Amino acid sequence: MPPTVFILDFGAQYSQLIARRTRELGVYCEIVPFDVAWSALAARNPAALILSGGPESTLVPDAPDLDPAILNSGVPILGICYGMQLLARRLGAQLVKLDHAEYGPAILTTEHPEDPFWDDVAHESRVWMSHGDSVVKLPDGFIELGATPRCNVAAMGDRARKIYGVQFHPEVSHTDAGTKILANFLHGIAGLDASWRMENVVDSLIDEIRAKVGTDKVICALSGGVDSAVAATLVARAIGEQLTCVFVDHGLLRKGEAESVLAAFRDVLHLNVVAVDARKRFLDKLVGVEDPERKRIIIGHEFIAVFEEEAAKIPGVKYLVQGTLYPDVIESKTPQSKAGHKIKSHHNVGGLPEKMNFALIEPLRSLFKDEVRALGRVLGLPEHIVQRQPFPGPGLAVRIIGDITEERLEIVRNADAIVREEIDNALELQPHPWQYFAVLTPVRSVGVMGDGRTYANLVAVRAITSEDGMTADWARLPHHLLETISTRIVNEVQGVNRVAYDITSKPPATVEWE
Ligand code: XMP
Repeated sequence: MPPTVFILDFGAQYSQLIARRTRELGVYCEIVPFDVAWSALAARNPAALILSGGPESTLVPDAPDLDPAILNSGVPILGICYGMQLLARRLGAQLVKLDHAEYGPAILTTEHPEDPFWDDVAHESRVWMSHGDSVVKLPDGFIELGATPRCNVAAMGDRARKIYGVQFHPEVSHTDAGTKILANFLHGIAGLDASWRMENVVDSLIDEIRAKVGTDKVICALSGGVDSAVAATLVARAIGEQLTCVFVDHGLLRKGEAESVLAAFRDVLHLNVVAVDARKRFLDKLVGVEDPERKRIIIGHEFIAVFEEEAAKIPGVKYLVQGTLYPDVIESKTPQSKAGHKIKSHHNVGGLPEKMNFALIEPLRSLFKDEVRALGRVLGLPEHIVQRQPFPGPGLAVRIIGDITEERLEIVRNADAIVREEIDNALELQPHPWQYFAVLTPVRSVGVMGDGRTYANLVAVRAITSEDGMTADWARLPHHLLETISTRIVNEVQGVNRVAYDITSKPPATVEWE
């Protein structure tokens, strides 16, 4: 295992961001619950600890607390917001509740610029605050390292014990010197190298897979998405021919996608792939189905049925590869974040059921999405797979509103190819939309082409900006680009005489129309 920083999560919305920033600085880290026992941490030999922020006040009864043994462990600690207040209280300082909580930007003025915590940090810079309590008296051994106009102790530190605290959020991009401050803590104070890079970790990931699998056989479902492609390639590097990949062509992929994905898997990555042409089978099951949720369920069941049949043809398979990522692992450990109503039955190849009786190999379960992409590049995956935009498991079925037929699939496929080509080529777009596609609506309208009246389909174009698909805004595409897309669709796609642009954010709409 690489030297590991543990982030104690006090319920902050920013814990994952702290983890991503730490890893961007080349230091491996994991998020753990705030009440983890020191003995459990000690067994993992932590290189440093970061205490996250959190929604509570340390002044309320039963406020989330940490195992006090952690404070005497000698391991370098950085407390952020709630984490700093907890450090302060536990080490004997005094806190007060502010009359007015402080949220948003503030100017930090540093003190003791000679402290390594402030290496290359300007004397004054913008920081992001979000707190209702404040430290008013420092714990023994600490010095005050900075203040904002409304917060006298915005940073504190005990250089001898390597324990530091900041009231602001260094992990958010609004804190100008945030990354530098985290780097100073990790590299300067905790003495950690910036050595956690995909180039360096690929070998140990491969070794782990080899050790786990031994001489057993492994199966993997490929979708064309980046997660399953990287997971499969990694496993293939580890165990070669012992891995069989199954690629199910359900006929709901985009134009040319099945061919290009398969070619990449076979010819570039040299994976051992069984391709199943299940197009007719899926279409037969979908005939006459209009309800979005039923479409999703039918496709999910059918996918599993096809996969099970293929798996049964390979005797002695013991393991199934899943492309589970770190955010899924974290979220499944914090059930409250899963609360709420089900909006859509999401499914993808990572969700094959447990009843299949395979042991799981999840080689990406410690990685964030951008790290999976970086790993894909190290493994030599083609850019069109590494950069593939998110695409729903049920594919074009959820982009055809109403009945799915071969003819309607052809329309949405052709319109979608134009949307993608035009936006892919618009390199000047800032930011580049996160996802963009065409939707075939059930609406027909009157038009005129040449001298004739037409009564044909309405296609909607959707392009969004987003960080993670959880929330999204519609992309402000330039009018000339929308014009080109519209003209091309109407001229080149048979059966379409009108194009609309979707100007709804998420919420209240979702990204996909179904
Ligand atoms: P929605 O439509 O829920 O989409 O706002 C959010 C993101 O998830 C993608 N999506 C799916 N991904 N299986 C998947 O793997 C699915 O069933 C599925 N449905 C939606 C969608 O494309 C967007 O990026």
